Amino acid sequence: SKLTVVGAGAVGSSVAYASLIRKSARHVALYDIAAARVEAEVLDLAHGSQFTGSSDIIGGDDLDVTAGSHVIVITAGAAQKPGQTRTDLAGVNANILRSLVPNLLERSPDAVFVVVTNPADVMAVVAQEVSGLPRERVFSSGTVLDTSRLRWKIAQRAGVSISSVHAYIVGEHGDTEFPLWSHATIGTVPILEWVPQDGQPKFTVDELDQIAVDVRDAAYKVIQGKGATNYAIGLSGARIVEAILQDEHTVMPVSTVLEDFHGVSGVALSVPAVVSAAGAQPIRETTFSASELALFRRSADALREVAAGLS
Ligand code: NAI
Repeated sequence: SKLTVVGAGAVGSSVAYASLIRKSARHVALYDIAAARVEAEVLDLAHGSQFTGSSDIIGGDDLDVTAGSHVIVITAGAAQKPGQTRTDLAGVNANILRSLVPNLLERSPDAVFVVVTNPADVMAVVAQEVSGLPRERVFSSGTVLDTSRLRWKIAQRAGVSISSVHAYIVGEHGDTEFPLWSHATIGTVPILEWVPQDGQPKFTVDELDQIAVDVRDAAYKVIQGKGATNYAIGLSGARIVEAILQDEHTVMPVSTVLEDFHGVSGVALSVPAVVSAAGAQPIRETTFSASELALFRRSADALREVAAGLS
């Protein structure tokens, strides 16, 4: 199996690193237009080969290194600067994707495309349109990262392991995202009824609201401190790659272009989807409470506005 990561910046090199360590793909290629940067990253990763075992890494600034990929993760583009929103990046990054995707597709006609570049939901629509591929073959990592942030916070507070927390962030990967609290459980217990194992009080509604805000603003906090977010998105990307290459049919909140999903069409938003070798299939049976549905539509409207400002 072959994975290509496009963009050897903070995010792309971390996706490659996580994929090598986790053995997410047998072959990993890293591509960037910045030759010196990508060559250095590839060398640094290759120098660890003794400890990563069977996966290997190649790369450079020639698009031919991407040929024959089964999955292509796109991280190329300008990143959020402190104080900048993801949507500020839209125009610049849309143009990068419009020129990149046809070149990548020509060399890897069977690939599934995973867009990480922000604003990820808008970029997923741009990439899907320019590729002409079916909607399930081109999607964004969406709120997989945000969901991991949410589950981590809940697990800490509830006194359980993260795998015991069943909760999802849906909607935009950005400021209008929100948790599906109506379906959040620890084991099978609804979150508001959970009695923490360590003597802490039960969750309150106000506290859940604060957790949602903290998760939404998490990237701003990390970027403020270190200039980028990279490790957690690297792991999220590697995990999505595994679900595709292993044909796992794993449920993940990735962002696909929706077609009458609770009345929403033509924008990409994250909802729980089945991720497999065929790509990502949104789960149409996912239900929302009335307030969640209102938030979902608000998220769709926000993205429609960004998309309209593009072209
Ligand atoms: P970075 O600036 O460190 O790296 C971006 C890389 O893209 C650079 O090495 C640059 O040379 C390369 N690039 C630019 N144009 C290119 C082209 N046409 N072809 C190939 N490579 C090209 O930025 P960083 O921190 O790695 O972030 C990358 C993107 O990922 C940003 O848009 C950022 O906002 C996004 N991101 C998305 C997350 C998500 O959950 N969806 C999480 C974190 C970041």
